[in-house]
Amino acid sequence: MTKPLTILGIETSCDETAAAVVRGNPPGPGEILSNIVASQIAEHRPYGGVVPEIAARAHVEILDGIVGRALADAHTTLEDLDAIAVTAGPGLIGGVAVGLSLAKGLALATGKPLVALNHLEGHALTVRLTHGVAFPYLLLLVSGGHCQLLIAEGVGRFTRIGTTIDDAAGEAFDKTAKLLGLGFPGGPAVERAAAQGNAKRHRFPRPLVTSEGFDFSFSGLKTAVRRAAETSGDLSPAAVADIAAGFQAAAIDVLVSRASKAMEHFARIHPEGHRLVVAGGVAANKSLNVSLAAAAKHNEFDLFVPAPSLCTDNAAMIAWAGLEHFAEGKSDGLEAAPRARWPLDVSRRNVAGAKA
Ligand code: KG4
Ligand code: ZN
Repeated sequence: MTKPLTILGIETSCDETAAAVVRGNPPGPGEILSNIVASQIAEHRPYGGVVPEIAARAHVEILDGIVGRALADAHTTLEDLDAIAVTAGPGLIGGVAVGLSLAKGLALATGKPLVALNHLEGHALTVRLTHGVAFPYLLLLVSGGHCQLLIAEGVGRFTRIGTTIDDAAGEAFDKTAKLLGLGFPGGPAVERAAAQGNAKRHRFPRPLVTSEGFDFSFSGLKTAVRRAAETSGDLSPAAVADIAAGFQAAAIDVLVSRASKAMEHFARIHPEGHRLVVAGGVAANKSLNVSLAAAAKHNEFDLFVPAPSLCTDNAAMIAWAGLEHFAEGKSDGLEAAPRARWPLDVSRRNVAGAKA
């Protein structure tokens, strides 16, 4: 049995300042020794969305303390670590730079290796941390900035088969919430309102569901929701709940129908591994999970979903992704640069200074 690796993870790509320590070996499951997530929701709420400058400043103010707490909670010191893993993109560049700079400082001061990671790979590998899911698997990645179907065949080996041609899934939830006056962050607010509403009152469009390929679209749905809100007059709580329920049902139909088609495709390429994984903030949505479970059963796939707190942004997923790369002998030089854009199907070996 190989000695387990102990990795510190740092995540600052959006509005969560997060640090965590995980321990284990691929393929997992691993042990989360600590997982600290400080949300900036209160700072951004007055603006109805994440303000990049406010996010970067908030990360600067608290990140040292969050890392200190993650180490203390894990009863670990910097000395005990095998490597320091950090999100290097994609995300809000100011925030990414804050996390990456601190990680480089820690690596330089301690002589520990640095692993600079793609945030999306953190989401993509979380099910290995939680359930030890083997490759290959079909991955539905649904977050605030992304909506993709990918085939995961190994660490750093992802093939994208579908993506959104307009809004991301989480973005659609957030815009609907704003339109309905449900506040920020939108996803959980829409889910709560939808639970009180009648999903059949409005029949919103399901863009692209019958089209070729595996791409998604949410903009037609967004327009229909706006029109319904405008024609509903006073937008009473009951009217809001019905629109939220109608929107959520349509968004879930779009996601599940594309995932179902992708399962058929995946089963043809990989007859041996019928696994569907859903990851990213929207994966925390319970109705989505119920519908995906039914579709997975129909296609004879096993469905894996991380716990809600590991679907939304956190640093345990970054520590774990770092652990997987480090276990394969990969690390990065101090010249690793923050990246605002970074598709998951471009290997992290393209990072400046990547070793191996
Ligand atoms: O993965 P994540 O925490 O951050 C990004 O990397 O983008 O995802 C955040 C997104 C937001 O758009 C949020 O509204 C959405 O995930 N979200 C949800 C739920 N919880 C978070 N969407 C639908 N239902 C939820 N319960
Ligand atoms: Zn994320």
